[in-house]
Amino acid sequence: MRIYDIIYKKRNKEELTDEEINYMIQNYVSGDIPDYQMAAMLMAIFFNGMNDREISTMTNAMAHSGDIVDLSSIEGIKVDKHSTGGVGDKTTLIIAPIVAYYGVKVAKMSGRGLGHTGGTVDKMEAIPGLKTNFSQQEFFDIVNKTGISVIGQSGNLAPADKKLYALRDVTATVESIPLIAASIMSKKLAAGSDCILLDVKTGSGAFMKTLDDSISLAEKMVAIGENCGRKTVALITDMDIPLGNNIGNSLEIKEVIETLNGKGPKDLTEISIKLAGNMLYLADKGTIEECENMAKEAIQNGYAIKKLIEMVEAQGGDIEYIKNPEKFEKSKYSLELLVEDNIEGYIESMDTEGLGIASTMLGAGREKKDDIIDFSAGIILNKKVGDKIKKGDILCKLYTNNEKKIKEAKEKVISSIKFSNKEPKKIPLIFARIEKK
Ligand code: URA
Repeated sequence: MRIYDIIYKKRNKEELTDEEINYMIQNYVSGDIPDYQMAAMLMAIFFNGMNDREISTMTNAMAHSGDIVDLSSIEGIKVDKHSTGGVGDKTTLIIAPIVAYYGVKVAKMSGRGLGHTGGTVDKMEAIPGLKTNFSQQEFFDIVNKTGISVIGQSGNLAPADKKLYALRDVTATVESIPLIAASIMSKKLAAGSDCILLDVKTGSGAFMKTLDDSISLAEKMVAIGENCGRKTVALITDMDIPLGNNIGNSLEIKEVIETLNGKGPKDLTEISIKLAGNMLYLADKGTIEECENMAKEAIQNGYAIKKLIEMVEAQGGDIEYIKNPEKFEKSKYSLELLVEDNIEGYIESMDTEGLGIASTMLGAGREKKDDIIDFSAGIILNKKVGDKIKKGDILCKLYTNNEKKIKEAKEKVISSIKFSNKEPKKIPLIFARIEKK
């Protein structure tokens, strides 16, 4: 077999065989296929796509390129969740304690921030003392003891994805539905849970900017999960507006705590209940409606916040910060942004990616690979799309320890928010739910 012939076939819109796909992935990971040939292959896939069988085969080959985590020593049904990434998306830390309270095990490997989007592992590390790297046995022990553990991705999980993702990043081949689907699902399959809930974000702060593309991506990922024997459901949720009011690591942890105490913003609470309800449904805990009610109850009765405290303690974090979130260190500098225009109207739209970038500029994310995160940096939004505004109202507050960054971030925020005299149409929080049947 020659990679040249496989590239030639895909360039000419032909289907690849399973043997060809397996050959391509194995030999790319081993270094026998050089980057320049794989780059040509990725571009051929970008333009000519792949059918469901080809995507499933590629996903499996990528999943098996490294360790496959065996979760069988953890009792009960294990449910994983994956968000395609967004701004202010802190749902994992809300929904995992909810479902763990009902005995559903969450043994989750999460990522760090990427580009304009935040990452769960960075947010968790804003809690003093909390560790996100454990040996596999310690990880299993925490899940068996508390029902939940969220850690960083282990070194040898889907190495094919690591290599391909870096190549896609520099060859303009990221936004390809088959390539994204294979990338995400290879990691989920390797991580070993029985069921997978996918939160596919759509809109200005998401990877997939259009609803049609988001649905198509979700359908492919659900098909892959089911073909590999994992019960899989996807929700298509809004990322045209940041989720909740807080963007930035410790600011988001504070909002997680507020939400688990029943005092969170409406959008974040609603999405969290839907996501947790779907995880409970995947674990056969009842109908969707029953499962959503269970999720609400776990918040109302204070069970879920207790679960979060148990997890934080088991991972070495200082639980006093969860009990008294005012303990989180405040940034040295802050700036209120006011509505300066002489208007009375509404916030018409937000460029959510722009707000994510502004938060990164303030120090909440990395601009370079080795940057150190400023956990207290970020943005609190006082107004969101559809809210009434008038001159002098506070739009948002910026937080940072690097005073020099405030001006640039302020300009980015201002250019990301549009006003209008007319009330904008309401955007749904959840656009669709996709499952096999
Ligand atoms: N997240 C991933 O893990 N991979 C992609 O290709 C896109 C988003």
